[in-house]
Amino acid sequence: MTNMLEGKVAIVTGAARGLGQMFSCKLARAGAVVVAADRNNCAETVAEIKKNGDRGTSYQADVTDHKSLKDMADKVTRDYGRIDILVNNAALYANLTSAPFDNLTEEEWDDCMAVNVKGVWNACRAVVPTMRECDGGSIINMASLAATYGLPFCLHYTASKAAVIGITRGLARELGRHWIRVNAIAPSAVATEGTRDFFGDKFEHATEVIRSNQSLRRTLEPADVAGQVVYLASDASRFVTGQTLMVDGGTTLL
Ligand SMILES: NC(=O)c1ccc[n+]([C@@H]2O[C@H](COP(=O)([O-])OP(=O)(O)OC[C@H]3O[C@@H](n4cnc5c(N)ncnc54)[C@H](O)[C@@H]3O)[C@@H](O)[C@H]2O)c1
Repeated sequence: MTNMLEGKVAIVTGAARGLGQMFSCKLARAGAVVVAADRNNCAETVAEIKKNGDRGTSYQADVTDHKSLKDMADKVTRDYGRIDILVNNAALYANLTSAPFDNLTEEEWDDCMAVNVKGVWNACRAVVPTMRECDGGSIINMASLAATYGLPFCLHYTASKAAVIGITRGLARELGRHWIRVNAIAPSAVATEGTRDFFGDKFEHATEVIRSNQSLRRTLEPADVAGQVVYLASDASRFVTGQTLMVDGGTTLL
């Protein structure tokens, strides 16, 4: 996939670790200049990108704060003259409470919506003006099997990821006239630090149950998802928009 994204500029949110870090490295490997954005430090991600001889930089931004994303988009536009790809990956996931729906706190519900839903809207409205000026772009939103399956005992997360699929569809129709494509990726549980934190001591049992519902019976690895991000970012998917790509080892068959 080397050079598929040569000349493109990509922003990845939530890029300090986990999937966001992997996506940043793979997009850079495919030739894009990558801006790794997170509320935490992305030095490790940028070091990984550079270790491969690829191009990347970091930006500290909180997706709940539209101004910090607008400032980032303005800086990226000034520095590189364009924004072609946005991966809305930042989310509250790893530390969320798993509990019956009526035991979740209002505070945690609101925080989850602020990052996972409003954060996606914030990032889109920050970068779309530049994408319009560049006559197109690709926005990739991280949804989850949680939304399509209906993950119980984590209703705030499940609802937030269903909203991400709704945003993807509505925005695809709205931005198609500007040749900006908007797609989502819905993975099942990926072997990341976040998933280990989320399931805690139930990790082995939970991943075994998930595997048993898959057609391909192994646990999903970050690299399995990263290939789809590169595909959706590239011209290989140039007539694909508004879609939610299930990366779940054949759990959901559309
Ligand atoms: N790991 C999985 O099994 C899995 C499955 C389906 C979907 N997803 C989705 O994939 C994405 C990445 O998952 P992960 O496992 O790598 O998660 P993770 O928790 O390991 O990483 C999330 C990143 O987002 C950042 N972040 C959180 N709040 C932020 C904010 N307000 N502003 C900026 N950055 C913020 C964190 O600092 C962290 O670096 C998430 O959208 C998640 O919902 C993950």
